[in-house]
Amino acid sequence: MKETSLQCLLILISLLSCTTHQARLTVSPSSSQFFEGDFVSLSCEEDDSSAGWTLRRNTSRDTRAECEEWGESAGSSCNISAILLLDSGVYWCESREGPISNMVNLTVTGGSVILQSPVLPVMEGDDVTLLCKTKTTPSNLPAAFYKDGSLIRKQPTGHMTIQHVSRSDEGLYKCDISGHGESPSSWITVTDKHTTTPPPTSTPPPTSTSPPDFSCVPLSLFSLVLTVSVISSVCVLVLLVLLVLLVRRQVQRKTEWEELEMMTSRTAKAQVINNSQSEEAETLKQSQTSSTPH
Ligand SMILES: *[C@@H]1O[C@H](CO)[C@@H](O)[C@H](O)[C@H]1NC(C)=O
Ligand SMILES: *[C@@H]1O[C@H](CO)[C@@H](O)[C@H](O)[C@H]1NC(C)=O
Ligand SMILES: *[C@@H]1O[C@H](CO)[C@@H](O)[C@H](O)[C@H]1NC(C)=O
Repeated sequence: MKETSLQCLLILISLLSCTTHQARLTVSPSSSQFFEGDFVSLSCEEDDSSAGWTLRRNTSRDTRAECEEWGESAGSSCNISAILLLDSGVYWCESREGPISNMVNLTVTGGSVILQSPVLPVMEGDDVTLLCKTKTTPSNLPAAFYKDGSLIRKQPTGHMTIQHVSRSDEGLYKCDISGHGESPSSWITVTDKHTTTPPPTSTPPPTSTSPPDFSCVPLSLFSLVLTVSVISSVCVLVLLVLLVLLVRRQVQRKTEWEELEMMTSRTAKAQVINNSQSEEAETLKQSQTSSTPH
């Protein structure tokens, strides 16, 4: 029971910290694909610098590795002066309290073509421009664009704009420049205009004591308010039940004690009565025996 209420408190605190401290990971230049040797700057844009955001990554080589292990760190930014194939992976910002930012997939290619697509999820209704680039030549060569493996468009200048994106535009994109080769594939995520990314992931099982780990992807105000109110009402309910149980136990203990006290005093009284009765009987007996002639 104590554990449950503690958990509730932790969830509330982390939810509050989600709303007050948020970070967004940005990539510059804005691309999720890079050529080997490119300069890349990553940065945790925070609304509260006291939260202490750490840039971490998972690659095929390392897990939850901090910037110090793979880049040049200064404040909340981290630079990779010459990115390597092994730097391909998922990057995110994480605060000491647990909440994490959006995640970004970076893909580094040893080939000569990349697709520059939005690093962050795009909002439904927005226009999205894709750029197919070669390493050596200016980026105005004709390019073919593919979505989920099928050719969608051929563009003479290597640019392609998708106007008013919808959920159906979400998918895995790549491009091809004849004579130079094909780019790696990257996901384009389209988010709903009203509700952004889905609310926090799983809550830990009630038996676990580890603090809840919420991803602080921007929530819509509505779902945030809903989540907070649901969780706080559950917390209040649990605390109330706990209080009632506590009071009941106290009352029970008290009545038990009173009963015990009453019983002991009763037996004591009875004993006193018994004692006096037996004394009376004794004196009666004595007087009887003394008065009875032989
Ligand atoms: C990073 O890797 C660890 C260990 O494999 C995993 O638990 C964690 O979920 C990964 N994080 C991301 C953001 O992929
Ligand atoms: C990282 O690069 C940015 C942009 O080029 C620069 O302003 C910043 O000082 C660099 N930071 C470090 C730690 O080198
Ligand atoms: C990153 O890439 C993996 C594998 O390609 C994919 O499953 C995941 O959804 C991507 N994550 C993001 C944030 O794009």
